[in-house]
Amino acid sequence: MHKFPQARALARSLSTRSRGLATLHNAPPAGKSPTGIVMLNMGGPATVPETNDFLRNLFMDGDLIPLPFQSLIAPWIARRRTPQIEQQYADIGGGSPILRYTRLQGERMAALLDELHPATAPHKAYIAFRYAKPLTDETAAEMKRDGVKRAVAFTQYPQYSCSTTGSSLNELWRKGRSGALGEGVEWSVIDRWGTHPGFVEAIAQNIERALSKFDEATRSDVVLMFSAHSLPMSVVNRGDPYVLEVSASVAAVMDRLGHSNPYRLVWQSQVGPSAWMGMKTGEALKGLARLGRKKAILVPIAFTSDHIETLYELDLEYAKEARELGMQVERSDSLNDSPVFIRALADLAATHLKEYSAGAIGSTSLQMGLRCPGCTNATCAQQKTWFARGGR
Ligand code: FES
Repeated sequence: MHKFPQARALARSLSTRSRGLATLHNAPPAGKSPTGIVMLNMGGPATVPETNDFLRNLFMDGDLIPLPFQSLIAPWIARRRTPQIEQQYADIGGGSPILRYTRLQGERMAALLDELHPATAPHKAYIAFRYAKPLTDETAAEMKRDGVKRAVAFTQYPQYSCSTTGSSLNELWRKGRSGALGEGVEWSVIDRWGTHPGFVEAIAQNIERALSKFDEATRSDVVLMFSAHSLPMSVVNRGDPYVLEVSASVAAVMDRLGHSNPYRLVWQSQVGPSAWMGMKTGEALKGLARLGRKKAILVPIAFTSDHIETLYELDLEYAKEARELGMQVERSDSLNDSPVFIRALADLAATHLKEYSAGAIGSTSLQMGLRCPGCTNATCAQQKTWFARGGR
C-alpha cells in the first residue's frame, strides 16, 4: 500500500504546473528585500583547473578533517592529490555539475515558494558551498547587497552529519559573528529532512525507472544497493547522527516501494588507512557476484545531484567492475532536475517558514540543539547557541 499519498498529490500537482512556474520571474519588487533561502552543500570544482582550490579548502576544514599544523599540511596534501582528482573530473566531462543543478533546483524552488507561502515572498535562493565557488563569503556579500533581513539556512544534505551540515553551519556562524552576513538578519535552520515524503517519493520513482530496465519475470530478484558517502569510525563513534538518519531514509524508501526487492545499505568513498563505516559499495557488489546474485541497482541515497561520487565512483568504477564480473548493474538517477524533488524542497521551506512565523517551531530543530556526546569542538556549541537565538 502507498504510505505517502501526500507525496503522490505533490507530484501530480507539480506535473500540471511546473512548466509555467519554472519561467516565473523571481526578482523582488522595488523596496522589498527577499527572504533568503541559503542552500548549503559541499560544492565541487565546476572546471578541472578549480580542483586544487577545492581540495585545499576541503583539507583546510578542521571540522571535517582535523589535522595538526592544518594550514601547512592541507595545501601539501591537496597538491599531492590534485593530478589524480583532476583526471577524474576530466573523465566525467570536465567538472562537477553540482553548481548547475543546485542553481536550477534553487530557482525553481523559490518560484514555487512564492506561490506556496506568499506571506514571506519574494523568496530568493542563495548558494553557499563549503569548498567551491560560490563560497560563503561571496554569498554573504550578495545577501548584504540585496538587503536580506530574514534568512533560512537550508542544508542540501538530506541526512545530518557534523562533518557536512555541521561544518557548513559552523562556517555560516563564523561569517555571521564577523558581520559579513549583514546586521540584524533573522536566521532559522532546516537541518535535516531525510524522510520527507517528497524526497522519498522522488528517490522511489527513480528506482522504479531503473527497475523497469530489468526483465519483468525476475525483476523482484534485483538487489537494491543504497549507497551513501561513508564516515570515519572516529566520527560515528563520537555519536554523529548520520548513519541512523541514512538508515531511516532507506527504510522510508523501502516502505514506499512496498518492500518489492531485497536491499542493503552500503558505504562509499573511504580514503586513507583509518577505519571507516562499511560495507564498502564496491566490495559489496563483488560479494553479490560471488553469491550468484547478478542483478543490482545502485541507489545514491545521500546526494541531491550528480557529482564525482555518482558519475565517477558509482558509474565508472563500481558498476563497470561489476559488469566485468557478469552482473547486470543499473544506476538509479540522482535527483538533479526531478520536479518531484524540487517540489519537496519548496514544501520543506514553505512548511518551515509557516510554522516559524506561527511560533510553532523555533529557529532550529530540537535535534540540532543536541551536541554529539563525544564532541570536543567548541565551535559546535557556539554555532548551536547562535542559531538557536535566530542568528544573534
Ligand atoms: Fe557533533 Fe560537535 S562534532 S556536535
